[in-house]
Amino acid sequence: MTTDNQSQRGPKAALPTAETELTGPDAEAQLDRRSFLTRSAGVLGLALAGGSLATLLNSCEDDATRGPVDTDPGNAITVELNIAEEEKLQAVGGSLKRSFGSNNGGFPLIIVRTAEDRFRAYTAKCTHQACPVEEDLVTNRIWCACHDSYFDPNTGIPFEGSQARLPLQEFQSEFDAETQKLTITF
Ligand code: FES
Repeated sequence: MTTDNQSQRGPKAALPTAETELTGPDAEAQLDRRSFLTRSAGVLGLALAGGSLATLLNSCEDDATRGPVDTDPGNAITVELNIAEEEKLQAVGGSLKRSFGSNNGGFPLIIVRTAEDRFRAYTAKCTHQACPVEEDLVTNRIWCACHDSYFDPNTGIPFEGSQARLPLQEFQSEFDAETQKLTITF
């Protein structure tokens, strides 16, 4: 019995198979045509894949060049400290612990006056296991209480016997004796 759908589709045509296509007098021509189509599809696929790859590479390149890396020293963040107003920094050997907003990840600095016209600005973070360090006014050194490390305030280098092996991270600083401004660059 024939359904309406079948009658609309018409008589069922025999689907070509590899065998039916490759038999008969034009087998060689058919084989050539098939090889050509297969190769063309391959080339087209490669072209499309190449296009996608090119797009992917371009987007990777864009991502790499779009990153937040800012190497322009002109964009460095600087802060100014008026030394004339800082009682603890009036004498050579004086030091001060202070935060500068979100600079240095919000971590405070220890600023040391090492000469009349020379200051050092260290991050107040121990290089052993990142504990906060303090000014030790008794020994005149920078001290980490976590594992008892001491740092030289003139250089930031840890004293022998300390658990810390690396010097404290230092930020560039410049003192203008005329204006009494210390500029720290983050
Ligand atoms: S964290 Fe400072 S000595 Fe260990």
